[in-house]
Amino acid sequence: IQRAFEQGSLTGRRIIVTSGPTHEPIDPVRYIANRSSGAQGTAIARALAALGAEVVFVTGPADVPPPVGVEVMRVETAREMLAAVESALPADAGVFAAAVADWRVKEASMSKIKKEKGTLPSLSFEENPDILATVCRSEQRPRLVVGFAAETDDVVSHATAKRARKECDWIVANDVSPGTGIMGGSENAITLIDGDGAEEWPRMGKDEVARKLAARIAESLS
Ligand code: CTP
Ligand code: CA
Repeated sequence: IQRAFEQGSLTGRRIIVTSGPTHEPIDPVRYIANRSSGAQGTAIARALAALGAEVVFVTGPADVPPPVGVEVMRVETAREMLAAVESALPADAGVFAAAVADWRVKEASMSKIKKEKGTLPSLSFEENPDILATVCRSEQRPRLVVGFAAETDDVVSHATAKRARKECDWIVANDVSPGTGIMGGSENAITLIDGDGAEEWPRMGKDEVARKLAARIAESLS
């Protein structure tokens, strides 16, 4: 009885969680990034740890501090995030909540680009690695891989296509249209997409979303 009490439903499971934005440098003082506070990813890592999981939390520069009781790997760019995730494999599950920048500046300047009257800098971009898709296709693919999809239109169809394209098990989709107040807010409205279809969750706090998702993950890994 004592043992059962002390053990959570994820005890002995290793889970990688990515969170926050990545920053892609333009020069030493400027970068491009996605909007992301890191709140949802942090809440998920905390909820998984609360169920006893050994969590590796790979985070870009987020607004909120990482949870306690998890292994934290801090990264800046998408390429650093991929390297950190790969170094953390193998794992039983991966939850990819990070808002990874899709592109990086081709040749980031080592020195600050100065304003010059009458001229504008021109930046060229190249595509960043897709961390989620790379992990899904790796030989060390975790048994359960959960991706996210923040969309503004046709949420379910975009997210369903994304699940197929990336070959992940679940997609946590959310509508981040301006006006929903989701982006940067404390609540989230989720549709969970798996091989059976789409399940709409009522709007709830990000902590509650995290606990519900962690319970689902525990059920799936049991
Ligand atoms: N993702 C990732 N690495 C990237 C881009 C995205 O790991 N370079 C992950 C995100 O963490 C998320 C999922 O892939 O779990 C979907 O991200 P999203 O930006 O919605 O998908 P994209 O394929 O980049 O499509 P788009 O931005 O055009 O909607
Ligand atoms: Ca993207």
